[in-house]
Amino acid sequence: MSNKLLYALARPLLFSLDPETAHNLTLPALKRAAALGLTGLIARPQPDPRNVMGITFPNPVGLAAGLDKDGGYIDGIAALGFGFIEVGTVTPRAQPGNPQPRIFRLPKANAVINRMGFNNGGVDAFVANVQASKFYQDKEGVLGLNIGKNADTPIERAADDYLHCLEKVYPYASYVTVNISSPNTKNLRQLQGGSELDGLLLQLKDAQHRLADRHKRYVPIALKIAPDIDGEQIKTIAAALLRHNMDAVIATNTTITRDAVKGQPHAEESGGLSGAPVFDMSNKVIRGLKAELGDVIPIIGVGGILSGNDARAKIEAGASLVQLYTGLIYRGPALVKECAQALRASH
Ligand code: FNR
Repeated sequence: MSNKLLYALARPLLFSLDPETAHNLTLPALKRAAALGLTGLIARPQPDPRNVMGITFPNPVGLAAGLDKDGGYIDGIAALGFGFIEVGTVTPRAQPGNPQPRIFRLPKANAVINRMGFNNGGVDAFVANVQASKFYQDKEGVLGLNIGKNADTPIERAADDYLHCLEKVYPYASYVTVNISSPNTKNLRQLQGGSELDGLLLQLKDAQHRLADRHKRYVPIALKIAPDIDGEQIKTIAAALLRHNMDAVIATNTTITRDAVKGQPHAEESGGLSGAPVFDMSNKVIRGLKAELGDVIPIIGVGGILSGNDARAKIEAGASLVQLYTGLIYRGPALVKECAQALRASH
């Protein structure tokens, strides 16, 4: 069956539910379908390999972090045809996240506001899930593991949490993402500031080199940043990335701005806004980064991809790969193939 049709049938039902319930129904259903071999029927994009960070990506369209926080649904997600899958954000210790409701759809704007707050089962459970996946065991594809800090770790001790998670996830990751840009963990975005960022990147790079020796494998580290930064901040971050020889940057996370959705239901909910309203903002950050980084450090472009054309615009802005999340909610899994095809055609 065409997954476009399947999604067209499922969407009204899913949209009649509160977003977290829809999420909690969809992922286990996908997992069951994968276990039964049914997802083999979903048409995969044609191969379009890209070499980025020393890794060969089967196609340049990835799943952005946050859909599968605990890495429990990797095999189901793999069936949707992504060229890479990023799971997490995971924190050292399990934590419940914010009280529900904490996800809101803004359908008129093809947008979502979330204030999940890194709800997750902790890094040990996360690693066990990754290890149990067929995707990991059979080395089926590229897996990004996204790490963060616990809500109750003081921001001055944030590096300890990142280092703890890095050490735990390192052996199982194709690449590791350091998320310092969620708006839903108090003060997290402070880590994007000049001296804080320098200190953090220094420690991460030092740990990466020790871990590479220990595991006889170099695992690249990508830094994930926010769209709510100006030209000066882009330059500061780019300089730090270059100084510390970072392997990639992921631009961007959700925005705390609301200009694009003013007056719409839920627009004033606190949290991060994703989807169409973040598209131009993230492209602007990508262009700014590209001007500073050239071809030295690759950019993974994410934010508001709802069509193949949107994916192409991210590459044109300077990204080497793209990721999406909110587009999957509004367009369904057919979006993955549409983006892969658009990028293949323009390659
Ligand atoms: C996210 N995003 C996210 N990012 C991250 O690094 N760690 C996380 O845990 C989450 N969690 C999360 C939950 C929900 C419900 C959403 C909608 C988003 C951000 C996501 O990965 C992406 O950067 C932004 O959503 C922008 O891309 P899209 O959604 O517009 O394609």
